[in-house]
Amino acid sequence: MPSLSVFGAQWGDEGKGKLIDFLAEAKDVVVRYQGGANAGHTVVVGEEKYVLHLIPSGILHPDKVNMIGQGVAVDPIKLLEEVDGLLARGIHVDGDNLRLAAGAHVIFEHHKRIDGLAEIWRGEGRIGTTGRGIGPCYGDKAARTGLRVADLLDPERAKDRLGAALAEKNALIERVHGETPLDVAEQIESYVSMGDRLRPFVADVGAEVRRAYKEGREVLFEGAQGVMLDIDHGTYPYVTSSSTGVGGISGGAAFPPQHIDEAWGIAKAYCTRVGEGPFPSEIFGDEAEALRKAGNEFGATTGRPRRAGWFDAVAVRYAFDLTGASGWIMTKLDVLSGLDEIPYAVAYRSGSERWTEYPAHLASMDDVQVEFETMPGWSEDITSVRSFADLPANARAYVEHIEAITGVPIVMISVGPGREAVIHRSS
Ligand code: GDP
Ligand code: IMO
Ligand code: MG
Repeated sequence: MPSLSVFGAQWGDEGKGKLIDFLAEAKDVVVRYQGGANAGHTVVVGEEKYVLHLIPSGILHPDKVNMIGQGVAVDPIKLLEEVDGLLARGIHVDGDNLRLAAGAHVIFEHHKRIDGLAEIWRGEGRIGTTGRGIGPCYGDKAARTGLRVADLLDPERAKDRLGAALAEKNALIERVHGETPLDVAEQIESYVSMGDRLRPFVADVGAEVRRAYKEGREVLFEGAQGVMLDIDHGTYPYVTSSSTGVGGISGGAAFPPQHIDEAWGIAKAYCTRVGEGPFPSEIFGDEAEALRKAGNEFGATTGRPRRAGWFDAVAVRYAFDLTGASGWIMTKLDVLSGLDEIPYAVAYRSGSERWTEYPAHLASMDDVQVEFETMPGWSEDITSVRSFADLPANARAYVEHIEAITGVPIVMISVGPGREAVIHRSS
């Protein structure tokens, strides 16, 4: 399998970081192709926990090449913090194992400021963004007023383009939002000097990924967020600003779509969402609190408590259909231990209509109700189980049934945060 796309099939935080780190062992190159430091990908190795925001989750393997593609929105402050944080913990990071696309758009201070101010402006209609400047940066990319990493490496060009951008953004900050504008000279100086530090990493990442593939090296594409947060196919407008599924790879990693050999989704055995927006299978009160606690569901980027709910087969089937998933990994099955019965969503209803396929044509999901079915639970702690046959019978039955109703084979099951806590479906 020379190239494999691994992406979130729900609303993010499915456990992508853990699985990418695990799968990277057998790969040569790991590539992020979209999103930015809104992502928080947790990898636990022994006693050590790493939360990666921009650097691909293959970085803990010293012999792998990690690439940040041009579809990623790169905050140089966050990236350099991440590099320094890993170096301080003895992880090898240099221009050989970390490559940064020259064409990736840069997230500036003004993007983060405007992200926060726009959320206040939206009031009740806020999205609940991570505040990492994602929407404003991708907005400028589409409006053709953004700067790319290569622009930071050329001080004169950076000065012209950032100066022009800030003239407009400062007017917005000051005149619309009534806040203090940013100091233009200071901003230019600060970002040009960060550009200098980034120089050793900067490359034509697209060309390098394509070459790696042609030379027969194994390439793993790491998705951030999840399909239900996709700019085109998610629960718009409560989405992020990039193409989170397999479709984001061709543009974001400059990689031909027909060379993506396999696609695996990642989905929890239940479901969570951070921020605002529709979440049909959401649960509330003590039931939600118990699931949140059992799954330690607090944002890896913002620390916000995640909203919790049951596995939603309608949404996951949609994510698999959109991406052509050939397999999937069910994560956090261990979190369901101790429940008498486990509900999961099989259909949506609104008025006299009933959908078993995701109703992407609806303007709003506000009126949608969910039809649940249940299966019996199990009480055993399964975190140390390593073969499918050793799972409690009810856990096996749950996995097999969910697999059947999603219509896509489960290739692995994750039963704990640690690298080793994985069950191969065939075991
Ligand atoms: P990502 O954004 O998809 O990489 O996921 P996050 O790292 O934001 O959130 C997943 C959380 O669940 C992290 O705290 C992981 O350490 C943890 N985790 C991942 N897989 C499992 C699992 O199978 N069981 C348990 N209990 N925790 C897991
Ligand atoms: P990982 O890669 C979960 C959510 C935010 C908000 C919406 C828009 O760790 O799975 P943005 O800052 O992108 O403009 O916010 O998207 N969101 C995520 N939720 N996991 C993520 O990343 C997310 N990245 C963004 O909470 O609802
Ligand atoms: Mg996360």
